[in-house]
Amino acid sequence: MRVLGIETSCDETAVAIVEDNADGQRCLAHALSSQIEEHRAFGGVVPEIAARSHLDRLDGLVEQALKDADLAPGDLDGIAATAGPGLIGGVIVGVMTAKALSSVHDKPFIAVNHLEGHALTARFTDGVVYPYLLLLVSGGHCQVLEVKGVGQYRRLGTTLDDAAGECFDKAAKMIGLGFPGGPAVERAAQSGSADRFKLPRPLKGRAGCDFSFSGLKTAVRQTVDALPPGSLQAQDANDLAASLQQAIVVHIVDRCSNAFAMSETRPTAFVTAGGVAANTALRTALAKVAANQGIPFVVPPTELCTDNAVMIAWAGLERLGLGLTDPLGFKPKPRWPLDTANT
Ligand code: KG4
Ligand code: ZN
Repeated sequence: MRVLGIETSCDETAVAIVEDNADGQRCLAHALSSQIEEHRAFGGVVPEIAARSHLDRLDGLVEQALKDADLAPGDLDGIAATAGPGLIGGVIVGVMTAKALSSVHDKPFIAVNHLEGHALTARFTDGVVYPYLLLLVSGGHCQVLEVKGVGQYRRLGTTLDDAAGECFDKAAKMIGLGFPGGPAVERAAQSGSADRFKLPRPLKGRAGCDFSFSGLKTAVRQTVDALPPGSLQAQDANDLAASLQQAIVVHIVDRCSNAFAMSETRPTAFVTAGGVAANTALRTALAKVAANQGIPFVVPPTELCTDNAVMIAWAGLERLGLGLTDPLGFKPKPRWPLDTANT
């Protein structure tokens, strides 16, 4: 089986083709174009610019992916696209393109939940088997899920306010570290001391595995404001970045540690996905959580943790294998929680 996948829900335009046959699963092509430079001046993703940029780039990337894989559209078994959640203008661009390809070449269309793409990536990269526990940490999401099968998710906890990546991004802006904030904070933290500024430990000691990051963001604001005006030096920024990164890591570890007791099944692995999973301090700390539970810790390679089309093609392929295709009338969904049915 071969499926072409399209991702346009945020600021990456991407097209991938994945194959699954008797020799195993592999990626035949991945054409990706990041819009980071177009949004940098605004300090965040501007939805209107993102949608227009997806429209400009997508056709070329579809062509490039087919060329790289040395395939014609007729060689594909299905066309998948992120159909939500995400910035709706971009999602519509991807879904319309996928529907057009599906209609013209008479191939099944598969509407993929972007979060399901992140959730199933570890099955493509590491062959993880169901059920497993997933921490999804990105710019738009922070949740823990019990993954029991395709379309079978039980959400154990979610953020009560901001996502982890959003906290990295907004705090980085306050500290003057630029966009995107996560990688900038991680870099600055390497030259900083995490002990200098005392930041809060949200929800510490509370049951459950919900998250909260808005208090941390406020604490960073107050810390910056408490320094004499205009006097934020490089060392202050590095120390604050290190303190913030440590606070986020401690919070995520604290919450995830509660998730195992809440799971209905014994997970085969603890999987982390989403852009924030690129953070080395977080990975190291989460590996210890998994080790304490006596199960493997799995993180896909960074380029498949951040938004990409391989995960959408793979989720499409898993769905297609189960006969889970969608009508061309399927409506893109700006909001689409993972633990609800694909309707
Ligand atoms: O999954 P993703 O590419 O897009 C969304 O679906 O949100 O995640 C992007 C988020 C951004 O907030 C970015 O700052 C964060 O992931 N991020 C990181 C790192 N690399 C990316 N956060 C912390 N440390 C990093 N190294
Ligand atoms: Zn994502």
